[in-house]
Amino acid sequence: SWTMPNYVDEAIAKIRQQVGGDKVVLGLSGGVDSTVAGVLIHKAIGEQLICIFVDTGLLRHNEGDQVMQNYHDNLGLNIIRINAQEQFYTALAGVTDPEQKRKIIGKLFVDIFQHEATKLDGVKWLAQGTIYPDVIESAGSKNNKAHNIKSHHNVGGLPETLNLKLLEPLRELFKDEVRSLGVAMGIAPKLIYRHPFPGPGLGVRILGEVKPEYVQLLQLADNIFIEELYKSELYQKVAQAFVVFMPVRSVGVMGDGRTYDYVVSLRAVETTDFMTANVANLPFEFITRVANRIINEVKGINRVVYDISGKPPATIEWE
Ligand code: XMP
Repeated sequence: SWTMPNYVDEAIAKIRQQVGGDKVVLGLSGGVDSTVAGVLIHKAIGEQLICIFVDTGLLRHNEGDQVMQNYHDNLGLNIIRINAQEQFYTALAGVTDPEQKRKIIGKLFVDIFQHEATKLDGVKWLAQGTIYPDVIESAGSKNNKAHNIKSHHNVGGLPETLNLKLLEPLRELFKDEVRSLGVAMGIAPKLIYRHPFPGPGLGVRILGEVKPEYVQLLQLADNIFIEELYKSELYQKVAQAFVVFMPVRSVGVMGDGRTYDYVVSLRAVETTDFMTANVANLPFEFITRVANRIINEVKGINRVVYDISGKPPATIEWE
C-alpha cells in the first residue's frame, strides 16, 4: 500500500536510475519546493548534487545564514552560497516601477545562477522543484495570460541555454504531498509549513526604490511580526503575513523628542487559493502589541498601520 516512507524509497531509486554517476545542479531558494527537491536528491546521490543558493539581499531577516545552517551544516547538502546582495542593490538603485523591479530581479537571478552553474565541471543535469500545479499552470499559460497581472518570478524558470537535462522529482506531487515528503525526510515542520514568499522577495515589499537601509528596517519589523505570530500560535491560522515598507515619513514623539521616521504596514490574509483573499481577523490586542514592539525596537520606524484590504480589489503583495 501507498505510504510516504515507501514513496521516499521509490523516488530515491528512480533518481539514482535516472542520473547514474552524473553531477546535478540545483538552484536552492530556501522555499519549500526547492528544499524538498534538494534534500530528496541529496539522499539519492549525495555529493553528486551541487546546490547554488543565491542570496539576493531581499530575503527575510537572517534567512541566508539560516538556509546555510539548516541545509548545509545540519542536513549536509553541498551548497554554494553566492552573496549577490550588492549586485541586486546596484541593479535596483533608482528603479521605482514595480514591473521593472520584478524583471530586473528575475533576470539578474537567472544570470547569476547561469554564471555560477557554468563554472561547475561535468554537470549534466539541472534539478528543479517543479510541482504538479506548476506543470498544469505552464501548460495552460499560453491561452491564459490574462489572469497573470504581475510577472511572476520563481527559481523554477531557469535557463534552457545551460543545455542540461531536467530532473524534476516533485513533478507529480501536490503541495501538501511535497510537505509530507519533506517532513518524512526529517526537515523541521517549522521550515516546511512556512507562508509563501514571493520570488522577488522584499523587492516587492519595499514600495518604489529599494535601498539597503529600507531592507534592513523591513527585515527587523517583519521579524517581530512573525515572531509574535508564532508566540501567540496565530502563525498557522493565517495564510500569509508580512510587513510592507513605505518610503514616507511622518512625525512622532519619543520621550522628550520629536521623530520624523518611516511607516510600515502589517499585512495578514486568509485565503485558500491566493486568487482571492480576506484580511485576517487578528485580535486587536495582538496587532497593537506588534506595532508597539516595532516602534520601540526598530529605530527609524515610528508608525505602523494595518492593511484591511481584500483581494480583489487589492492584491496580497503591494507591488
Ligand atoms: P498577489 O500579490 O498577486 O500574490 O495577490 C498572490 C500570491 O503570489 C505570491 N507572489 C509570488 N510568488 N513569485 C512567486 O513565487 C512572484 O513573483 C510572486 N509575486 C507574488 C504572493 O506572495 C501571494 O502568495
